[in-house]
Amino acid sequence: MAGNESGKAQVILDLDTGIDDAMAIAYVLGSPDAELVGITCTYGNVEVGRSVRNSLALTELLGHPEVPVYRGLGHALASDGFEVLPSTLRIHGVNGMGEVEVPEPMREADPTPAADLIVRAAHELGPRLVYVPTGPLTNLAAALRRDPEVARLIGRVALMGGALTQPGNVSACAEANVSQDPEAADEVFRSGMRVTMVGLDVTHQTLLTREETARWRALGTAAGRAYADMIDYYIGAYAESAPQLGGCALHDPLAAAVALDPSLVRTLPVNLKVDLAGPTRGRTIGDETRLNDPEKTCAVALGVDSERFLGHFMERMGRALGAGE
Ligand code: BDR
Ligand code: CA
Repeated sequence: MAGNESGKAQVILDLDTGIDDAMAIAYVLGSPDAELVGITCTYGNVEVGRSVRNSLALTELLGHPEVPVYRGLGHALASDGFEVLPSTLRIHGVNGMGEVEVPEPMREADPTPAADLIVRAAHELGPRLVYVPTGPLTNLAAALRRDPEVARLIGRVALMGGALTQPGNVSACAEANVSQDPEAADEVFRSGMRVTMVGLDVTHQTLLTREETARWRALGTAAGRAYADMIDYYIGAYAESAPQLGGCALHDPLAAAVALDPSLVRTLPVNLKVDLAGPTRGRTIGDETRLNDPEKTCAVALGVDSERFLGHFMERMGRALGAGE
């Protein structure tokens, strides 16, 4: 697979391409220290077909039609269907982009299934591969079932999902991405793979307001206008559902940023599991059976240098949105 020797991180984003996933795409494309080698698509904010379509359209809008997009699984491992939650429709809109119209993509998805691509990339890129899932962990769990070696081959994984010290956002204790497929998340946490969990503990500390989106609109590019409109829609949804935050949470771009620069967060080493039954289904919590294991496989982000992240974020977004017409 494509991948250079430039020393840049070789990034694969795994997205349920809604509004903050769209920001993660722009963030990585605007990062001089990263090369976006592919996007694997999942369901969540939208159905998987819409996630593919949005990812193709957004990479073209941002002037990067060379980025391959792969279709992933359309529902959780333990279920046989998927429907977008009504609360998600209010946050991301029916089209996943706040009803903003982005031109139809000129190209189609690569025919390789996402899980196969992840296995191939793990073998071919190894330690240079930085994998950033910002939706349900179904594709990654499917890749691990196909080839458990993936757990030790991938260089770095920073995922957006879960909550350890904060309440959930779809139930009292479950965060949306983990709650879509708790079995998949549990398999990932128990696989031995080293992951950094970038959950609500930190993403609710990194916020954007209309002051920043106005700067993107002022760039005078189609991408700047589309992103400003999309994120204003998202800020409006947050003003209704979580007015105490005073802005919208930068969930998915924070995971991408931590993948590229782990020093942005302070972490706690924990062997995590996911509750699979009862009223706490979908909760991320320490695994009591591995409490005394000397080795911890998950680093849970509990603190974030929000100011430094926001500086990186505005600089990289400005670079990605300012390019083009
Ligand atoms: C996560 O859920 C999705 O709606 C967002 O894109 C983000 O990845 C936040 O809980
Ligand atoms: Ca997401």
